[in-house]
Amino acid sequence: MSTLIVYASSKGYTRECALHLQQQISGDVDVADLKKVKHPDLSGYDRVIIGASIHASNLQGSVKRFAQSHEEELLKKQLLAIYICALDDQKWEEYLNQLPAPITARAQLKEWFGGRIIFSEHFFLLRKFLKKVTGSVEDLHKEQPERVERFIEAYHQLLEDPA
Ligand SMILES: Cc1cc2nc3c(=O)[nH]c(=O)nc-3n(C[C@H](O)[C@H](O)[C@H](O)COP(=O)(O)O)c2cc1C
Repeated sequence: MSTLIVYASSKGYTRECALHLQQQISGDVDVADLKKVKHPDLSGYDRVIIGASIHASNLQGSVKRFAQSHEEELLKKQLLAIYICALDDQKWEEYLNQLPAPITARAQLKEWFGGRIIFSEHFFLLRKFLKKVTGSVEDLHKEQPERVERFIEAYHQLLEDPA
């Protein structure tokens, strides 16, 4: 019984979440970075967790393409879970709708993990733009560790009693 975490990350927060889940979730857990492997082999896994971040109101294209092209296989998994990394705590469920509807409907677990912006990680013009749209000159830290822990707890409960 094993889990695959597939994710895409621009500046590392979604990756950190994936690696944290890998450490904390029971059983065999592998991770696949969709920027490196577009179509990871899902055949050996009973459970899949999809991790995606939001940029300009869009879910990472590689995650959308992955979910679309593997929809049938994903729907057959015993356990399907999704986490979204984004700053906006209001719109994350709306962002989920960018995945195929049967996948979001089937996922037993969906959670928002928050997000962060470290301005120095972005090139000058984007940094300037981000400061303007966020109205902040300080780095933005909206990571949600308690939601990550809640997700892990709920995941373990589902392992005992899959819905
Ligand atoms: C250029 C840019 C655009 C972003 N647009 C949004 C957005 O539209 N909505 C939102 O909630 N968060 C937005 N964010 C915040 C990201 O979702 C957040 O930084 C997240 O932690 C990124 O994770 P990643 O580095 O793993 O890709 C944006 C961040 C950047 C850098």
